[in-house]
Amino acid sequence: MNPIQSFKPLALAAALCAAAIGAGCAGGDPVANRTEGKTPAIIGIPSDSVEKFGGQAGIDVWVDDLFYYILADNRINTIFTTHGHVQRQMALNKELENMVMGGPAHYSGASMSAAHAELGLTLTQFNAVVEDAYLACDAARTPYHVCNQLIAALAPFERVIVSR
Ligand code: HEM
Repeated sequence: MNPIQSFKPLALAAALCAAAIGAGCAGGDPVANRTEGKTPAIIGIPSDSVEKFGGQAGIDVWVDDLFYYILADNRINTIFTTHGHVQRQMALNKELENMVMGGPAHYSGASMSAAHAELGLTLTQFNAVVEDAYLACDAARTPYHVCNQLIAALAPFERVIVSR
C-alpha cells in the first residue's frame, strides 16, 4: 500500500476526532482508553446493571417507590396529577429503565422529547425527580453505586426533557 493510502484512514479519524471535541473522542488515546488505574474518560453502563438492580422485579419495586416519592413531592407533584397518567407512566418507566441499563425490555412509549415537550420543564424540576430517584433507591435498598448506574443511564435525557 502506498503511504498516501495508508495515511487516509488516519487523517479521517483525526478529522472525526476534531469534529467530536466536546462529545469525547478516545480513538487511539492511551489515557482515555485506559481500563485500569485511573477512571476511564468514557464511562459506559456496566453490562450487569439490570442484574445488580435485582432484575425486572427490582426495577418494578424501584419505580413504585419513585412514584411514591414524586407524588409526595410538593415541588413537582401537581405536574404529574394535572398532566400525567401515573399508571401508564409507571408501566412505561419499568420498561425504559430496564432498556437504558442494557436489559432486554422493549420501551413502548413516546420519545422523551415528545412526552415532555408541552410541559416546559425546568432543570430544578428535573433535579427534583433525580432526588426522588435516589430516595427510591434508599427505600428499595439499592446500593448507591448501583443506583448511580441507573441515574447515569437516564442523565442524557435531561437535554430533551428540560425545555426552559
Ligand atoms: C430522566 C427523567 C425522566 C424520565 C426517565 C421520564 C420518563 C417518562 C415516561 C416513560 C413517560 C411516559 C411517556 C408516554 O406516555 O408515552 C413520561 C411522561 C411524563 N413525564 Fe416524565 N420522565 C422524566 C422526567 C420528568 C420530569 C422532571 C417531570 C416533571 C417534573 C416529568 C413529568 C412527566 C409527565 C407529566 C408525563 C406525562 C405526559 C403526558 O402523558 O402527556 N417527567 N415520562
